[in-house]
Amino acid sequence: MSSVEISALRKRYGEAVALDEVSLTAQQGELVTLLGPSGCGKTTALRCIAGFIAPDGGDILADGVSILATPSSKRDFGVVFQNYALFPHLSVAENVGYGLLFRKCSKDERERRVAEVLDQVQLGGLEHRLPRELSGGQQQRVALARALVIQPRLLLLDEPLANLDARLRDDVRWLIRDVQQASRTTAFYVTHDQAEAMAISDKIAVMKNGRVAQFASPREIYQRPVERYVASFTGEANFLGVQVERELCPGRFRVRAGSAAFDVKGAGPFTPGTKAVLLARPESLAIAGVVAGQLQGRVTKSVFLGAVQHCEVVLPDGASVRLGVPPDRSLPPDGTVTIKLDVERAWLMPEVAA
Ligand SMILES: Nc1ncnc2c1ncn2[C@@H]1O[C@H](COP(=O)(O)OP(=O)(O)OP(=O)(O)O)[C@@H](O)[C@H]1O
Ligand SMILES: [Mg+2]
Repeated sequence: MSSVEISALRKRYGEAVALDEVSLTAQQGELVTLLGPSGCGKTTALRCIAGFIAPDGGDILADGVSILATPSSKRDFGVVFQNYALFPHLSVAENVGYGLLFRKCSKDERERRVAEVLDQVQLGGLEHRLPRELSGGQQQRVALARALVIQPRLLLLDEPLANLDARLRDDVRWLIRDVQQASRTTAFYVTHDQAEAMAISDKIAVMKNGRVAQFASPREIYQRPVERYVASFTGEANFLGVQVERELCPGRFRVRAGSAAFDVKGAGPFTPGTKAVLLARPESLAIAGVVAGQLQGRVTKSVFLGAVQHCEVVLPDGASVRLGVPPDRSLPPDGTVTIKLDVERAWLMPEVAA
């Protein structure tokens, strides 16, 4: 249980910059997720924290003390990878107890802790099985138990659900979160799956080419992204190209999209006359009959999905937006509709953050 502060971490591989001034903090008991596409530096950051590789610059502090000079075996961190890396010839209990063999821990104490942690990950009764006699989800829970049994100061998880099917992914994800919260273990979690990141995290660092594009709570990331990249990486997003007319009051701007004007929230600053991007999540859009002076479009696709129909609407500037409409709603024969925007839920942002 530690707070961890990463400051201006840098790492290059030859010409390739894997980490470029990465700064993040995890308060004690928090789960912080590194989210981003393949190659953006997530694993490199995690390996630096674990001590498997040395950064070129920057620092990593645990409870305010630099750990860069501490070898990985002395950091007291529990690590879980996507391929379970269990010892094939050792039983479940032996795999889990392995990390305790090198610590001051009596046989009784070891057995008690192994049983306790196996119970936590719901593997009680399977302690004598070999890894090959377990399903993927069970093997991953053994790996989790092995990381937890040492009561780590920090838990590091790199795509721990990647090899599991969708259903199991959900179960193991809930379990990881439950166990992490119950034990109040600080954790760093790596994934490229935005839904997973939203569901499990206290804070998310959205990474882009070795940098942190935004570091905030899932809600903040979803509702108030700093730029288009972040918005497109976290959930369904529609983007309207708009021109900023003026700031109405701090944090609220009048923008124009074709013949329509909207008064929307945004993080600014925006200079009047500049182009910007208006984020409209599907749930902040609806359609209505044609009203002059409002944003119009043409429905080009609609798919009936039972509880909702999904529509694609093309706007005059050629951009298209996706939204859901009630399943019993009939669409006009010529497809022409007004797009209604919930301005309280829309969000104005620059194409790329400064
Ligand atoms: N040992 C290495 N030698 C050379 N380049 C490396 C090495 N490890 C990583 N890289 C490069 O550093 C960059 C970041 O890699 P990293 O493994 O951290 O990405 P990632 O975000 O974990 O990606 P993925 O989602 O595919 O696992 C990539 O461009 C990668 O090719
Ligand atoms: Mg990786």
